[in-house]
Amino acid sequence: MKPKLKILITEEQIRQKVAELAKKISNYYRKKQPLLIVGILKGSAIFLSDLIRKLTISCEVDFISVRSYDGTSSTGVVQLILDLYDNPVGKHILIVEDIIDTGRTLKFLKTNLLTRKAKSVKICVLLNKKCKRKTKIKVDYKGFDVPDKFVVGYGLDYNEKYRNLPYVAILE
Ligand code: IMP
Ligand code: MG
Repeated sequence: MKPKLKILITEEQIRQKVAELAKKISNYYRKKQPLLIVGILKGSAIFLSDLIRKLTISCEVDFISVRSYDGTSSTGVVQLILDLYDNPVGKHILIVEDIIDTGRTLKFLKTNLLTRKAKSVKICVLLNKKCKRKTKIKVDYKGFDVPDKFVVGYGLDYNEKYRNLPYVAILE
């Protein structure tokens, strides 16, 4: 059966939310420099590129890539597969992610960057699936709460497809 897409968040809703988040982030980081925006590949690429173009402050941009193994155990292990190009020492870092689910990916990265002497680490996610959280982690900037359904589009994939949709949809 062909998968069905049901639009959950429209292009216009995303556009408005991105502008709102960019305003808050610009206000907060205006006097906290240098700011390094770190996108988690690949899902955050589209959100990040829209977000940074709405910032009214100076920032650097870098990317990192992780893989999470869930396996049969409930612990779930996160592994760094592509590190930052830049040095995080002494920088205010804002991690940008497409979606937070269990929270393990962001917990791992925040701890990793703080250990490497980033000056501060905050988290910005477009989507929040709050009912599945397995670890305590603060989300500093959040776009939308979403139900516990598999969502795609605007960077999010299913088997590497659907990232190019301009909206967020539930895959049924
Ligand atoms: P977690 O918070 O460590 O569980 O992992 C979040 C990651 O799982 C995200 O970066 C996504 O790559 C992936 N993910 C979780 N939920 C979805 C979804 O509904 N659609 C697409 N990817 C998802
Ligand atoms: Mg991801």
